[in-house]
Amino acid sequence: MKMAVAGAIIALVSGTGASADTNPKKIEGPDECAECHRDEATVWRSTHHFTTFRKMPRSKQAKKISRKMKIKRIKSESLCLNCHFTNQTKGKKTEPIAGISCELCHSEGKDWIKVHAEFSGNKKKELESKAQARARWQKSEKLGLIRPSALYKLAKNCYSCHVVPQEKLVNVGGHPAGSKFELVSWSQGEVRHNVWYTKGEENKKATPARKRMMFLVGAIVEYETAIRAVGKATKKKKYAVKMAKRAAKARKKLRAIAKALPKVEELKKIVALSKKAKLKLNNDKVLTRVADKIAVEAVALVTRYDGKRFAKLDAMIPKPNKYKGKPAK
Ligand code: HEC
Ligand code: HEC
Ligand code: HEC
Ligand code: HEC
Repeated sequence: MKMAVAGAIIALVSGTGASADTNPKKIEGPDECAECHRDEATVWRSTHHFTTFRKMPRSKQAKKISRKMKIKRIKSESLCLNCHFTNQTKGKKTEPIAGISCELCHSEGKDWIKVHAEFSGNKKKELESKAQARARWQKSEKLGLIRPSALYKLAKNCYSCHVVPQEKLVNVGGHPAGSKFELVSWSQGEVRHNVWYTKGEENKKATPARKRMMFLVGAIVEYETAIRAVGKATKKKKYAVKMAKRAAKARKKLRAIAKALPKVEELKKIVALSKKAKLKLNNDKVLTRVADKIAVEAVALVTRYDGKRFAKLDAMIPKPNKYKGKPAK
């Protein structure tokens, strides 16, 4: 029974993949989203996620990486496409259509775009009952939509690109092994586009409670992702060293968090699990098993807590001067 539950949760968390393993057949494209979400699209166009589409393939560094990886055309190389571009299949052709756009974070829209936008067959939001609205959101999520409230899934998406688990790309290609990512500071700067429910009047900051949850979930996903990446290491070279350092640092942070919140059982379990995660070469099986168990605890934690009582974390959370890029408005 317990195993079945764990299995169901894993299915839930890995579910329909957005991000680095998106299905191009189900991509609507940012212009479709912008039909209604104009303000969000305007914010997005001012981010690196947008500009990378034109800039990256032309950069010197990109040419250097391609040369080393023996890649002829970056925009037709699936290894680069998955993390740098939004790809869409139309008929028989699959092509990059944009940089890192809406659906790489909120999941491919094809199945849920209509459902989430139409008020359960009512013409206006005001005419939809609460029960109908709840059912609409549930259905949308079942069809893949990743809502801002699904913090674990959101964080997983960021990390699926911001840690680069390709040993050869790092060791041979000279590609960065990942970003110095942290969820609060990287989502509350240039990326922030909370302009829908304010009708574009204000780009709403995350509340203190939400920031705590972001910080907490981000730290767990950081560790989970890092040990999975260590699992892919086969050679004692740059990749293995970088990922092992990343995992060790993430573990230290998690221990500090667990110490600040001694009553949170899930954190205790995660710290206990981390003792089994030996950071050595060719240890994929063990590290994957530990990471899967940590994922289950992370989802339980997001479901059970809302951050209101986690004020002890505030001192650890990056301040606005550390945010990545300037938020719009
Ligand atoms: C036809 C108009 C329309 C289109 C097209 C559209 N949306 Fe929406 N979207 C809405 C409406 C309306 C809401 C808010 C519903 C409500 O208030 O209950 C919404 C809400 C959202 C939310 C917030 C969910 C939440 O938890 O509050 C996200 C995220 C979102 N849309 C993403 C997208 C993405 C990504 C696309 C493109 C694939 C897209 N939307 C296309 C109308 C649209
Ligand atoms: C797992 C995801 C992933 C893959 C695969 C990947 N990249 Fe990247 N790439 C990133 C991330 C994340 C950054 C930003 C790193 C940082 O924060 O400094 C980046 C940065 C870069 C940069 C430097 C910044 C820029 O945009 O000019 C170049 C150039 C680049 N990548 C080229 C490539 C090429 C070429 C390929 C394919 C051979 C590739 N990348 C594959 C995730 C990826
Ligand atoms: C890099 C990932 C990423 C991309 C790209 C992205 N979003 Fe989001 N989106 C998020 C996150 C994370 C939040 C919640 C942010 C927060 O809580 O501060 C969010 C929030 C939202 C919301 C809720 C806004 C509100 O007022 O509360 C909507 C609607 C939305 N996104 C739509 C879009 C659309 C449309 C696009 C493309 C034009 C897009 N997003 C691109 C990650 C992304
Ligand atoms: C599909 C892959 C992908 C996903 C998903 C993704 N990113 Fe990125 N992100 C990148 C790449 C690649 C770059 C580097 C772009 C460049 O500079 O050329 C980047 C750049 C950024 C930057 C700008 C960094 C700088 O150097 O100033 C921020 C901030 C950022 N990402 C935050 C986020 C957040 C927050 C999320 C999740 C809510 C997220 N990203 C999800 C691939 C991704």
